[in-house]
Amino acid sequence: MIICSCQRISDHDIHAAIDWMRASDAATIITPGKIYHALGKAPECGGCMKLFVATMRKSDKLEVPAMLRNMRADKATKGTRHEGRQESHRISQ
Ligand code: FES
Repeated sequence: MIICSCQRISDHDIHAAIDWMRASDAATIITPGKIYHALGKAPECGGCMKLFVATMRKSDKLEVPAMLRNMRADKATKGTRHEGRQESHRISQ
């Protein structure tokens, strides 16, 4: 089925590109832009993007590599670290 009519990209092309990217680099984050690039094309109107991403999500090889998961700070430590000055460093008046 044609997913992107501007560039004539099919669902088969998208899945083949995902398979190729995952096989060549297991740690890569796969995005629509990388798929276009891998196919030697670029989006034109962007009208297909919702269907494009939905087609990508059907691939079992799209998942984020394990080493890159859970990198966001958990809620228990959130707010306890700051990068700026802490109150104890203020000059008393
Ligand atoms: S339909 Fe895909 S860029 Fe236009």
